[in-house]
Amino acid sequence: MVKSNNFRDGYNMKNIAILCSGGDVSGMNPAIKQFVDYTLDKGMQPYFVYDGYEGLIDDKITPANYSDVAGIMTRGGTKIGSARSIRFKEASYRAQAKANLDKHEIEMLVVLGGDGSFRGLHKFYEEHKIKFCGIPSTIDNDINGTDYCLGVDTALNIIKTSVDAIRDTASSFSRAFVIETMGRDCGYLALVTHLTSGSELCLIPEHPYSLKDYEDEFKKQMKNGRRYFLAIVSEGIKEDSNEIAKWFEERIGIESRVSVLGHIQRGGNPTVKDRLLAYQFVTKAVDALLDGKEESVICYEKSGFNFKSIEEVTSKIKELDNELLSYLR
Ligand code: F6P
Repeated sequence: MVKSNNFRDGYNMKNIAILCSGGDVSGMNPAIKQFVDYTLDKGMQPYFVYDGYEGLIDDKITPANYSDVAGIMTRGGTKIGSARSIRFKEASYRAQAKANLDKHEIEMLVVLGGDGSFRGLHKFYEEHKIKFCGIPSTIDNDINGTDYCLGVDTALNIIKTSVDAIRDTASSFSRAFVIETMGRDCGYLALVTHLTSGSELCLIPEHPYSLKDYEDEFKKQMKNGRRYFLAIVSEGIKEDSNEIAKWFEERIGIESRVSVLGHIQRGGNPTVKDRLLAYQFVTKAVDALLDGKEESVICYEKSGFNFKSIEEVTSKIKELDNELLSYLR
């Protein structure tokens, strides 16, 4: 199909913008690509807002075309930048953001972000009636109402590659490795990594534990010939990872090291799952806005895609999947 130019004389195009807010994830670029391709195909004029709500306030808003998104599908991060905006919490800056959108005649927003970003958006809607659809995007997978947030699969695969590599050295050198994953207060990344990496220990905020409970078993395993341990710990647990390593040395009797995976978990080439979900999230978000849905978040659950209210996704803390949690010993 030959794609048409986005600027068409005399054609009443609807202006729509996309922005990324909060921690970036792999999957944002595929989402941005589909946003531009799809809205142009629908006869709309897509816009980029750079650097999240900060860009809304500072008028970093530009029209976008097919050529702007060529080749970005394979890249992690986000071409249009992301930010956590303190200023957007203030009504005066939100008014400034609205004035900028008016200048570009933008009526609708697609926002990739977490629940904090959606809360701001809700206020913005209440005050200025800017229609929006939120797309849950955070590696933490901690947004209520959705089983899946964009970027989680890529993060899990990056963690998998890292843990598999650490296993190589741990097993060669007879050490315990404490591997710390991100996730803020949510243990999802650590739990899924534990279940899919064959690690010996998993510590997450949602599962009360006492290190003492593992001592006899781990010492017995050492006696029986175990040469190394992998412990996956979530950044939100009560101890520092160094304390867990110290515990391995002092109580279990094995040399240990800490590996904090850090921000590598937020980058990398987006997986097929994240590319496909980005495509679907964006397509459905744009369709919803065109169909007159004014204020929603598109969620992905076992039952499929569902639109939820901001209230629903922001009013509760997401609980970890009970089944996954039940596998934890
Ligand atoms: O919310 C995503 C996340 O990567 C968390 O897992 C982590 O705690 C935090 O962001 C790190 O934030 P920053 O990039 O500001 O250090």
